[in-house]
Amino acid sequence: MPRTAKTPQIPAIGPLDRSAGALGRQLAQKLRDAVKGGGLQPGESLPSTRALAESLGIARGTVVQVYEQLMAEGFLVSCPGVGTQVAPSLAGVPRKGAARGMPLPPLPPAAEAFARVASQFTPLPPVPFAVSVPVGMAAPGLAWRRLGNRIRAHGAGAPGGYGDPQGALPLREAIADYVRRSRSVHCGAEQVIVATGTQQGLFLACMVLLGQDDCAWVENPAYLGITALLDALAPGRMVRVPVDEEGIDVAAGLRLCPGARAAFVTPSHQYPLGMPMGMARRNALLDWARARSAWIVEDDYDSELRYTGHPFPSLQGLDPGRVVYLGTFSKILFPSLRLGYAVVPPALVQAFRGARALMDRHPPSADQHVLAAFIAEGHLDRHIRRIRGVYAQSRAQLLQILQEALPGGLAWLQPSDQGMHCVLWLAPRIDDRAVALQAVRAGVAVRPLSPMYAPGSGRPGLVLGLGAFPAEQVAEAARRLAAVIAAAAA
Ligand SMILES: Cc1ncc(COP(=O)(O)O)c(C=O)c1O
Repeated sequence: MPRTAKTPQIPAIGPLDRSAGALGRQLAQKLRDAVKGGGLQPGESLPSTRALAESLGIARGTVVQVYEQLMAEGFLVSCPGVGTQVAPSLAGVPRKGAARGMPLPPLPPAAEAFARVASQFTPLPPVPFAVSVPVGMAAPGLAWRRLGNRIRAHGAGAPGGYGDPQGALPLREAIADYVRRSRSVHCGAEQVIVATGTQQGLFLACMVLLGQDDCAWVENPAYLGITALLDALAPGRMVRVPVDEEGIDVAAGLRLCPGARAAFVTPSHQYPLGMPMGMARRNALLDWARARSAWIVEDDYDSELRYTGHPFPSLQGLDPGRVVYLGTFSKILFPSLRLGYAVVPPALVQAFRGARALMDRHPPSADQHVLAAFIAEGHLDRHIRRIRGVYAQSRAQLLQILQEALPGGLAWLQPSDQGMHCVLWLAPRIDDRAVALQAVRAGVAVRPLSPMYAPGSGRPGLVLGLGAFPAEQVAEAARRLAAVIAAAAA
């Protein structure tokens, strides 16, 4: 048998490939392509189903089905007395070939800003020193799996209809209870908006709090997830405010832009440098917000993990009507869970709830119910106690290994007593972006620090996640990183 059918009655479609099977689907696609590419013109008559079937050596029924399918799609029409034609209404529709070389419609500046940031959010491989990789003892274990299986099979987490855009009530109650007792956040479940992580909380806060001309203070340096967001949503309206050892420099913010509508801050553990915001600074920030009718957005991403003394209480607890508090389970559980929350002042609940619904309705229900049970049954508290010990040990081990491995005078650690990452400063002549790229090639995952600064104000450094990798793996990674740094400085 020949591998291809006979010469078709429509030259523009070429022969079918018998060895590939699905002849009807092939014919349909070839006809569509011929119409789109101009090989078949609007109004042009097609051969009868019998003639085309014979010319192609296929069953007539196959051609009948293809013609019917393409009529349903609007490519063909059937005219009494004339037969089947390419739909005349397609005249004037741009052809595939004709579009080549034509300029695309312009995109708004936000699209360019989104495209610029796309590559920066590529996840790092699960090797030292990637942040938030739940390996070994740091991963939630048997209790999480058992609860998941039980809840997905029966009851609240089983397949159902749409859920509440604000989040499942049992989870909101569990979160409200958790942040009240562990973070001194003042709230009820009715103020909790369940989000797919802090990133969505930041997006919601920008959408709800910032008007067309409003400026926002952002720490310098800061998390890329907020700076890139404001670059896209509020171009030219982000005011980078320096931080010192007490956190955001409120006096500098007042000089730069006293009338900003919101301040995005990380008071428990400045991201990325690691210091907590002092009490005088907290009061100064709140005084500014009250005097200028501004909001404060508190990103409390990893405050559970403090290794000396207790975690610092939230800023929200000092003025619950003024602060939008953002929390996440990415750090204490695992980031692929994609669950976090915003605790918002009562006056903002409806706006956040509506914005949440328009963004993606609500997070997947099953995981919300699994997490609600995990918190309510005490597993989260036990898990946090465990990982605090795990990360304290990882941290001590990492600091010691790095101190031994690092090339003197080229890299030094920033002191910090909490969180899941540490900062390694590099000598000014070293390009931290190049080091991060080379490190990944050497099997070590680090983030460069300088892109977290406002353009022109950066210092080179690296953000290293603590992780819970075995000591030998960490030691090997530290040696490789040291070699990459030394090579970059040469
Ligand atoms: C400071 C800071 N804020 C927010 C986030 C976003 O966390 P999520 O995974 O909850 O979106 C991160 C993640 O690394 C972070 O470091």
